[in-house]
Amino acid sequence: MMFTTAYTTFFCFVALLCAFAQLASAVPVQGKRDVFDPPILYPHAGTVWKKGQRHNVTWDISQAPKQITNRIGEIRLSQVNQSIFPVILATGFDILDSRIEVEVPWVQTGHEYTLVLFGDSGNSGPAFTIEGPSIFDDDV
Ligand SMILES: *[C@@H]1O[C@H](CO)[C@@H](O)[C@H](O)[C@H]1NC(C)=O
Ligand SMILES: *[C@@H]1O[C@H](CO)[C@@H](O)[C@H](O)[C@H]1NC(C)=O
Repeated sequence: MMFTTAYTTFFCFVALLCAFAQLASAVPVQGKRDVFDPPILYPHAGTVWKKGQRHNVTWDISQAPKQITNRIGEIRLSQVNQSIFPVILATGFDILDSRIEVEVPWVQTGHEYTLVLFGDSGNSGPAFTIEGPSIFDDDV
């Protein structure tokens, strides 16, 4: 009887340990994700682009981690404070290049624009201006 109790106690103890071990292994390991969110340097606040011009968009890679989850970059254009980024200016480049040449698309003027650099995650740059010409620009 004594043996059975001791055995049961021991078994319960082991089972408890196993349960804890399982619980511990279910918790994801907090590894370094190395998300790289390089800030856009150009265009900056006050920049004016004109339709059809070509410009080098540049960003700061000085804080780049050694391991980057996704090095493939994409640059999109959107109006300031809009949550959609419908215009793709460049894609498929290496985010460590720190610059990519883009052509200014024909968009409505009278709005502030911003670029978003996508890689590991999206990062909006400063607001800047794109100028026409469109005969309706003054009506917007
Ligand atoms: C963009 O930068 C590259 C490399 O410095 C240069 O060859 C090219 O002329 C630049 N493009 C523009 C539009 O300034
Ligand atoms: C964008 O949002 C910021 C912060 O809410 C605001 O200060 C700014 O005026 C907005 N700009 C435009 C063009 O709506």
